[in-house]
Amino acid sequence: MTVCCQRTADLGTVAEIVKKYAGQPGALLPALKEVQRAAGHLTTELLDQVAKGLNLPLSQVYGVASFYTLFSITPKGKYIIRVCESAPCHMVGARSVLKQLERELGIAAGETTPDGLFTLETTSCLGICAVAPAIMVNDQVHGNLSPDSVPEIVRAYREKGGDE
Ligand code: FES
Repeated sequence: MTVCCQRTADLGTVAEIVKKYAGQPGALLPALKEVQRAAGHLTTELLDQVAKGLNLPLSQVYGVASFYTLFSITPKGKYIIRVCESAPCHMVGARSVLKQLERELGIAAGETTPDGLFTLETTSCLGICAVAPAIMVNDQVHGNLSPDSVPEIVRAYREKGGDE
């Protein structure tokens, strides 16, 4: 079964967001953040819509979207798994948790599963070192992990699939 989980941009919603920021100084970053939250990632079409709505050159909007790592101009999965690679997590086995996630998902860090369900990323400290090694799946913390913990976590999100 293919699970549909890419958020699709509702252009009406995006138009409302852009309208809200039109004419405001310093509007580009908050507008892009909000559009990305609504759409999942920033397509060329959405960047064009933002540029027109804020009366900015597309090159400027694209430049900002591609410069800041918080913006994604490529599709991401419904569940973004962030694996902490900072020293406290690294020292207690983060690398083996990451390797197990890669095996379980069939992708490498930085990739998205073909069904669009998972994106696997590495990150610096998530601020939850007390439960190292730790990962976050969207806003959900999973800590005190071992490679053996991984299949159960992945299974639970697979079962949720595209449901919110
Ligand atoms: Fe991993 Fe802080 S070092 S959460």
